Amino acid sequence: MAAEPYHASVAERGSEPSSRGARLRRRERGEGGTSDAGVRGMMSSTDGEVFAMQATPPERRASTDAEREAFGAILGRILRSGGFRFDDDTVSRLRSVVWERVRASGAGNAQTYLTRLTDPAEVQQIHAAIAVRETRFFRMPTQFELLSDDVLPALWFRRGSDTRLLLWSAGCASGEEAYSLGIVTLDAAIRRGVPLTEPARVIGSDIDGSALRIAENAVYNERALANVAPALRSRYFVRAGHDWRVAETPRRLVQFQRWSLLDAVWPLAPDRVDVLFCHDVLPFFSAEERRHVLARFCRVLAPGGYLFLGHGETLAPVPDVLEEVHLPSASFYQKVSGE
Ligand SMILES: C[S@@+](CC[C@H](N)C(=O)[O-])C[C@H]1O[C@@H](n2cnc3c(N)ncnc32)[C@H](O)[C@@H]1O
Repeated sequence: MAAEPYHASVAERGSEPSSRGARLRRRERGEGGTSDAGVRGMMSSTDGEVFAMQATPPERRASTDAEREAFGAILGRILRSGGFRFDDDTVSRLRSVVWERVRASGAGNAQTYLTRLTDPAEVQQIHAAIAVRETRFFRMPTQFELLSDDVLPALWFRRGSDTRLLLWSAGCASGEEAYSLGIVTLDAAIRRGVPLTEPARVIGSDIDGSALRIAENAVYNERALANVAPALRSRYFVRAGHDWRVAETPRRLVQFQRWSLLDAVWPLAPDRVDVLFCHDVLPFFSAEERRHVLARFCRVLAPGGYLFLGHGETLAPVPDVLEEVHLPSASFYQKVSGE
């Protein structure tokens, strides 16, 4: 049976969360505009020449033309070999990662490091370094607000408030996003009188075992908590020296798993995931891998389930089973039918 689209479900419910629901508008599939242009723009940035012209390392300016050229060539080679795609926001992060590898590998300068990129082991090292986890709690606050005020209430309305939801942070890095999902769900459940002490199960999956060890430990510094509202901080975190540990209640909801989104088999049943967050992970994949992973996202999403992507990440074209929902505060996708 086809799931009701997000805007239909909220409109029927009257007051909650119809104020936002009234502002929903369906984005026409294949409409040009931002999504197509955005994706094309990012894809074209995989050309090393573009980066060669734009690159101005923040920590260390390349001192000679030769070094600047080598730096551009490094970026181009990495991007091509890794199938990476970066928008302007992430290019500066990429620069610092490259300089870090130049230093750590002992190459000393960009020209020497460029020659090291003929070694597959070094290529693997730099790919791993790039895939590293830029993350924090509530990284895109408006998405979490939307989740709390609209998406979760709509799901409980449709499924019954005694249903345990399944949320998935795909590419969860050191766990902040997965715990944020758990915290938001717990908090919304308490406010809405949901009768379950564990209203959701949250899966955090990542390919990086060392990041997952941090996630399991659940201790984070002030910087990671910069976006956590004081009320949530006092309810869902406890002091651990100078740092903070995620409290027991949200921790109980979250389970971390190590596997790759490119694995042939995923440990997730079809039509099962109610909310999927995949931020800043798809840009690491080639266009074909992205298509493949997205098709599988569509399969594991429950009818009526929601997909949230990172800043500037849009799908073009939007797969048939998804509907793109635009709000002034955030955009996301909803699975509107079975396949
Ligand atoms: C920049 S972090 C994003 C963290 C989090 N989603 C956020 O936005 O706050 C990207 C994460 O994607 C993970 N990743 C990259 N390729 C992956 C793959 N094939 N399967 C699973 N995770 C992957 C990396 O290990 C890294 O932890």
